[in-house]
Amino acid sequence: MSVQEKAYAKINLGLKILRKREDGYHDILTVMQTVDLCDVLSFEQRESGIEVVCSCADVPEGPDNLVYRAADRLQREIGCDRGVRIQMDKRIPIGAGLGGGSSDAAATLRGLCRLWNVDVASEKLHTIAASLGSDVPFFLRSGTAVASGRGEILHYVSALERVFYVLVYPKFQISSGWAYGNLKMPLTFGEKYVNFAFSIKDTGMLSKAFYPCIENDFSPLVEKHHPVVRNIQERLMGLGAFKASLSGSGSTVYGMFERMEEARAAAEQMREPGCEVFLCRPVV
Ligand code: C5P
Repeated sequence: MSVQEKAYAKINLGLKILRKREDGYHDILTVMQTVDLCDVLSFEQRESGIEVVCSCADVPEGPDNLVYRAADRLQREIGCDRGVRIQMDKRIPIGAGLGGGSSDAAATLRGLCRLWNVDVASEKLHTIAASLGSDVPFFLRSGTAVASGRGEILHYVSALERVFYVLVYPKFQISSGWAYGNLKMPLTFGEKYVNFAFSIKDTGMLSKAFYPCIENDFSPLVEKHHPVVRNIQERLMGLGAFKASLSGSGSTVYGMFERMEEARAAAEQMREPGCEVFLCRPVV
């Protein structure tokens, strides 16, 4: 018996850091959107134990892997004595601000519920996901959500589907722990973004007028350490993007295009040895 799950990447349509919390995390406000770049995970029934095999040499295969930890946590929470072999076909770059590891962990929770034929209440699954990482609960389903708290409080909204994303990964990794740890607080801008994000939550849908307000509090820090990020953003705008921004704490920059042909041409222009480029659509 085996099952497969797609683990989609996400981009952040803006990200505002509201405050540092007593538990060391930060309260944030962001709009997350799944896109059709994905890892593919296959789960095969085993008598016992957890084995993780990955197509990518950079990903640890033992208990340091978030997928391994997701399987282990679920096994314990539901008191399951069955095992699994998990094969990961990695396509989402690592340390890229695209949520690849978190999405793999959420796909593991979904896949194992199917493989082991267990019905875990959605609140419990959310709690397990949140214990694995702040972004993991978002990936339990696909779509668009306004995320607050440390990223785990989610309000799903309707997406605008007529948008094409060109994702440019400049082939270096940024750890979100490092980025949060090096932020210069307090950050003062972003009132317009915050108001808009709250109105999206209230109305339950994205609107085109939101896009110009997108801004990311990690941008100044990341641009200071990696000036190429600003350069990519400017080039995407020059190629006709109506908005370009950093995703999460980087390193990926995305450009948003209204027309497929424009997005495709921009993706071709951006394809250079120092970058990996993906042309994506939202997954709703
Ligand atoms: O939750 P996750 O394991 O993805 O977080 C990685 C690190 O990023 C945390 O240890 C914390 O330092 C930082 N973080 C934060 N505030 C958040 C999310 C993450 O400070 N909202």
